[in-house]
Amino acid sequence: MFKPKEITKVIDNISIGYSAPSNIALIKYWGKYPIQIPANPSISFTLQNCKTETFIEAKKKTKPTNTFDIEVLVDGKIREDFKPKILKFFERVEPYFSFLKTYFFKIKTHNTFPHSSGIASSASGFATLASCLVRLEQLLSENETENLDVQKTSFVARLGSGSATRSLSGPMMLWGKHKNIENSQDEFAIPHTDIADVFKTYQDVILLVDKGQKQVSSSIGHELMQNHPFAKSRFEQAYKNMSALIEILNNGDLDKFISITENEALSLHAMMMSSQPYYILIKPKTLNIIEQVWEFRKSTKIPLSFTLDAGANVHLLFPKSHKERVLEFINTSLIGYCQNEQYICDNIGQGVIPLS
Ligand code: DP6
Repeated sequence: MFKPKEITKVIDNISIGYSAPSNIALIKYWGKYPIQIPANPSISFTLQNCKTETFIEAKKKTKPTNTFDIEVLVDGKIREDFKPKILKFFERVEPYFSFLKTYFFKIKTHNTFPHSSGIASSASGFATLASCLVRLEQLLSENETENLDVQKTSFVARLGSGSATRSLSGPMMLWGKHKNIENSQDEFAIPHTDIADVFKTYQDVILLVDKGQKQVSSSIGHELMQNHPFAKSRFEQAYKNMSALIEILNNGDLDKFISITENEALSLHAMMMSSQPYYILIKPKTLNIIEQVWEFRKSTKIPLSFTLDAGANVHLLFPKSHKERVLEFINTSLIGYCQNEQYICDNIGQGVIPLS
């Protein structure tokens, strides 16, 4: 699958840029097999404002060498500490490209969301890198086509970080084989477009509860699912939740949407709390927010809900029609739980965009 294309064009200097958004999973990917094959299917909203922008300047080497040669600049500054992760990515994706050792790559990257906000940039970051490499390959080969090959890009992004596979197109992407979902597969994510109007403009306000470095990385969390006493039930639960959610996304039943997605968020964290060693990533303020959201929903009947990724920050999900009222609620009742009163307003977006 996705064999390297033959390079037929001689181009000495070429520059390419892409922006890719972050995504927020509703059915969570937690647990995997090598290399980044998910233990259960997942689905996410593609975001719009939280994104990474990456430019790659490729300069042909006078002679090909047996090494990958890269330089990484983050926000304009050379960052040696980012290189090992990207070199590992190049190693993993080498079987799918034939030009990686024939060029010197200057990689310039920048996130639009605040630095160390606790929002993972690996999804958007690897989605941009994968987009740049796939597009470069298209330009260097005879098979140059108008559009980015999104399937190969998703496949390649997955090898950088699992969730990156879902950061390529909007409004939603689904990743992982599910017997009732046509074309679903473990190797790359597919766009999911069969959604009711209410979801097409769904809002995600990210409350930045704790901006510190996570105590336990997602990679370790995935690993701890290997001998987890509840792993089998968790994978079955995600599988069933996916079937239910697909129908809900189509019919727009917000009560059921809330019940499945909040259950997924809490199940994810329950896995962390019941692994060996066990750990807790949510903070007291995360729980305060959840309680307030439940109270607000009960008293106003506004379908405001939450989801969590692998951290303490809270994603508040709601239909656009309630934006004004929800923002007022955030500013009066929730802002005190946010570090430096920071939150990010985002919404469903369309995925990767080429940058000139
Ligand atoms: C909780 O994609 O960060 O956000 O594949 O090891 O890079 P790696 O893990 P990563 O895991 C994300 C887990 C999650 C849920 C999700 O996005 O589905």
